[in-house]
Amino acid sequence: MSKFLDEVNRGLSGKVKKLNPKWLYDFSGSKLFEEITKLQEYYVTRTEIRILKQNKSEIANLIGKKATVIEPGAGESIKISIFLKSLKDPKCYVPSDISKKYIKKIGKKLKKKLPNLSVHPVVDDFTSPKKINSKILKNKNIVIFFPGSTIGNFEKKDAIQFLRNLKLKYNPKKIIIGVDLIKKKSVLLKAYNDKKGITAKFNINLLNRINKELNANFDIKLFKHSAIYNKSKNRIEMHLISLKNQKVKVQNKTFNFKKGETIHTESSHKYSPKSFSQLVNKSGWKVKKIWTDLNRQFSIQYLI
Ligand code: TRP
Repeated sequence: MSKFLDEVNRGLSGKVKKLNPKWLYDFSGSKLFEEITKLQEYYVTRTEIRILKQNKSEIANLIGKKATVIEPGAGESIKISIFLKSLKDPKCYVPSDISKKYIKKIGKKLKKKLPNLSVHPVVDDFTSPKKINSKILKNKNIVIFFPGSTIGNFEKKDAIQFLRNLKLKYNPKKIIIGVDLIKKKSVLLKAYNDKKGITAKFNINLLNRINKELNANFDIKLFKHSAIYNKSKNRIEMHLISLKNQKVKVQNKTFNFKKGETIHTESSHKYSPKSFSQLVNKSGWKVKKIWTDLNRQFSIQYLI
């Protein structure tokens, strides 16, 4: 049985239905997420780019010469280009992602922007603890570049495990990571329920993917996107709500949905500098430096 099928079966069988967010990011999902990052309401990406631009020389000094930069779940090339261009004589760039098609595209795009840089794309699931199979692991100054707020998409204990696993997977000495900060609920709700409905499409795409790849019969008109703020956990939660009592078949298995029942598809945890540094300590890393914007909406952090 494929891993995807296995996880969908298990995720829909529990008392509370949920799916691993990594399945949202197939080729169409990754493209839709790219669109989200350009939305006016989605403060995350432009704020992070501003912080990166403002502090790139200081960051480059901390990283030093001849860095091998690994980007787990590489996305758009804007941030990584700013970062690589600011570094002194970077040795190579290693984008990694589960979608082969997507990662190849990213690699090519970057080669155009930085023709002198060597690029080694790796197809890999960054949530697995498995060491990547690449000769670049022998390089000296290995740096993980993990922007966006992907760290927030993990449950807290999984975020700790992820940071710990990075050492086994990639042999890095340093991490540059994006961390979204706790802020006003109204700002968060707007960012995750955009007016154009792109986030809704991104969420619904998961059902299309299950239909296509796992021969399922979700009627996408009968599910609705919802993003809510869970205050006690400091996180946005994205759900798909069933609009009526219904049965859905995934291959030979049938799942029952009650009207109003949801599938939890992704969370986006928000941290304070203090709560994030406590999490980092538990993973065997240390926060050495934090950069934020004037409104303290977002942060880029340097871990060693
Ligand atoms: N990394 C993105 C974020 O946390 C992923 C994301 C986009 C997301 N839209 C979402 C997560 C909606 C949860 C809900 O911002």
